[in-house]
Amino acid sequence: MSENIVVVTGATRGIGRATATAFARKGYRVIVTGRRAEAVDAVVRELRAEGLAVEGELLDVCSVDSARCLAESIGERHGHLDVLVNNAGILPEATVSGSVNFAHPGAFTETLMTNTFGPANVIEALLPLVRKARSGRIVNISTEMGSLTEQRNPESQYYSMVVPGYQASKAALNSLTVGLAKLLADTPVRVTSVCPGFVATELAPAAADAPTTADDAARIVLEAAESPDPCTDGAFIGASGPIPW
Ligand SMILES: NC(=O)c1ccc[n+]([C@@H]2O[C@H](COP(=O)([O-])OP(=O)(O)OC[C@H]3O[C@@H](n4cnc5c(N)ncnc54)[C@H](OP(=O)(O)O)[C@@H]3O)[C@@H](O)[C@H]2O)c1
Repeated sequence: MSENIVVVTGATRGIGRATATAFARKGYRVIVTGRRAEAVDAVVRELRAEGLAVEGELLDVCSVDSARCLAESIGERHGHLDVLVNNAGILPEATVSGSVNFAHPGAFTETLMTNTFGPANVIEALLPLVRKARSGRIVNISTEMGSLTEQRNPESQYYSMVVPGYQASKAALNSLTVGLAKLLADTPVRVTSVCPGFVATELAPAAADAPTTADDAARIVLEAAESPDPCTDGAFIGASGPIPW
């Protein structure tokens, strides 16, 4: 187990790509995953050109077979996984006008499939490898918008942002963090939900003007993954510390 191995889902752009880069620059061997081969290859090429230890793998987080193939491949090559960053996510409810059409057929299902079933599916496939690491870590990329407390707080900066499918998908992901942390309490594996802030990415039209860069967001994710603080286990944390559920 000489190398620390990291898997980042949805690492082809945005926060995932920046997170893969941050881990690789910190000396981890990063497995860049994505559902489009050309996009994965492009990131791998770019990071290898910097001399970083990266590998590319195809992964559609919504596919059970795809997650199993990834687990087999990592198992054969490395035998363990130190950090799993469940980053891949979508927000199809957000539109250019900022309005929400809850009646849009399929948006709710599609969002929960990617943002909630996706991480659960990947965890199910990769957990046996994470358990083989010295101190495995699972980081679920969530959002303050998924906090039920913040959703009901008129003082919250996100109070007016109503995207029910996205918020439900991340609230459920947070619940998965809590449950998994409890199930793994007698193991060295820690599970944390992390909000990277409001980040300028292609996730939604409004994100174009967001105040946080993907690189800054990646630092928050990396810090959470490396935190030795036992309080981060089963917790929901952001740049300024714990976030109310
Ligand atoms: N941006 C923000 O302000 C913000 C705030 C809080 C939390 N987050 C969370 O951060 C995460 C990353 O978001 P982002 O802002 O970086 O968005 P982004 O730029 O749109 O990137 C999303 C990534 O997820 C991938 N992806 C989507 N569906 C996938 C699937 N089924 N299988 C594998 N990969 C898939 C995309 O790949 P394709 O190119 O194949 O679609 C892309 O690489 C999400 O979970 C999001 O909810 C974002």
